[in-house]
Amino acid sequence: MLQIKVAPSILAGDFARMGETVKKLEECGADYVHCDIMDGNFVPTITFGSQMIEQIRPYTKLPLDCHLMVLRPDTRLEALARAGADMITIHVEECRELTIQTLRIIKNYGMKASAVVNPNTPVEDLYDCAEDADMLLLMSVHPGWGGQKFMPGTLEKIEKLRDFLIRNGRPDLDIEVDGGITEDNVNDVIAAGANVIVAGSAVFRSDDMKGTIRRLRGA
Ligand code: DX5
Ligand code: ZN
Repeated sequence: MLQIKVAPSILAGDFARMGETVKKLEECGADYVHCDIMDGNFVPTITFGSQMIEQIRPYTKLPLDCHLMVLRPDTRLEALARAGADMITIHVEECRELTIQTLRIIKNYGMKASAVVNPNTPVEDLYDCAEDADMLLLMSVHPGWGGQKFMPGTLEKIEKLRDFLIRNGRPDLDIEVDGGITEDNVNDVIAAGANVIVAGSAVFRSDDMKGTIRRLRGA
């Protein structure tokens, strides 16, 4: 049985109080802290980088799950490793034929490595990564902003990916899904075969963060 994990995205948190925010996530039972690193080039938005990771690191023991929406993610890995990042996810759209090599570099730094595809990129583009990745991520919104609506076509991609993993000797590999997940659709995401749930707005707009995180583990 795959363990369901909840990874709240601090993109929806208070940027002026990030230390306290990640501490609170840990107290509320989160499994990972999802850190959306955007460079204003791969996506239009700019969020934060390794300096923020370094500064929030002392506030939590939870793994920092860093989703790199940047050009040339390979140039950011050393700084993120030094800053205390635990997991790095890279976009196949940016890394292309260097994706597997980049996953191996991430692991050489002692971090967990993951690859992601955008909604308009076929799930098949992740298949080659299954052997080297510690996790695979599917975007269920176009990256760049929190608070968007979950794209239902993602469910079929999750099913296809879990089926591929089962047929290819990696049945327990974590599948993370990111974007628009709420208490209302999380059961569909889990039923399709995902087990790591990213949620920004659903967690931070809730007045019962602990209950919401618990309910995001599914019924
Ligand atoms: C989008 C980010 C997501 C986003 C999720 O580019 O990768 O992690 O913050 O936020 P919600 O849950 O609000 O869609
Ligand atoms: Zn993300």
